[in-house]
Amino acid sequence: MIDISKTRIETPRLILRPWQDSDLEDFYTYASVEGVGEMAGWAHHQSMEESRKILNLFMEGKHTFALELRENGHAIGSLGLEGRDENLNLPKELEGYEIGYALSKAYWGRGLMPEAVQAVIDYSFRELKLDYLTCGHFLRNSQSARVIEKCGFRYLKDILYQTRMDTIEPTKLYILYNPEKEK
Ligand SMILES: CC(C)(COP(=O)(O)OP(=O)(O)OC[C@H]1O[C@@H](n2cnc3c(N)ncnc32)[C@H](O)[C@@H]1OP(=O)(O)O)[C@@H](O)C(=O)NCCC(=O)NCCS
Repeated sequence: MIDISKTRIETPRLILRPWQDSDLEDFYTYASVEGVGEMAGWAHHQSMEESRKILNLFMEGKHTFALELRENGHAIGSLGLEGRDENLNLPKELEGYEIGYALSKAYWGRGLMPEAVQAVIDYSFRELKLDYLTCGHFLRNSQSARVIEKCGFRYLKDILYQTRMDTIEPTKLYILYNPEKEK
């Protein structure tokens, strides 16, 4: 697995950096709002303690960025590089991860997540030299479909995804190959 614990990526409006203890309140503020996590497969947080546990997992896992908004210094979202989905049957010799993300509802519609995803694509292909990235969205999640589309991913397949809420969501998966390696 990769380790982003010393990585900092700057974009015009965001700083992508590791999660830290002091982000707890910001994290709870957006993760406790109904309709954010539910679109990504997790139930909105019921307590600060729940957010604390997930924040610890982010810090220990070292593969999830906090999205810090430059204009106010708050952590307003997350973007993780998750282990590969074996159902995809991609060649074993290729190295790639699945991107997962969520943004505070208060900041939707400003193009912030496409900006973050594009930065992580550049970092993954130029610095980490990964072969590919995948990304998926629930069929009903047209907002995430737009992010994936804007970032240039290509449709791969339909799957049924089992969420952490024990529901099944028809899901579309996409892939983006490292253009440097395709040459
Ligand atoms: C998906 C998500 C990350 C998009 O981030 P974003 O920074 O708002 O992305 P964009 O600003 O590019 O908006 C994407 C689309 O959302 C729609 N949208 C914009 N503002 C919206 C709002 N306030 N409410 C609902 N939809 C909105 C628009 O259709 C937009 O597409 P367009 O740019 O072609 O008009 C964000 O909506 C989110 O965190 N959703 C909940 C978690 C989630 O779905 N995670 C992804 C799991 S696969």
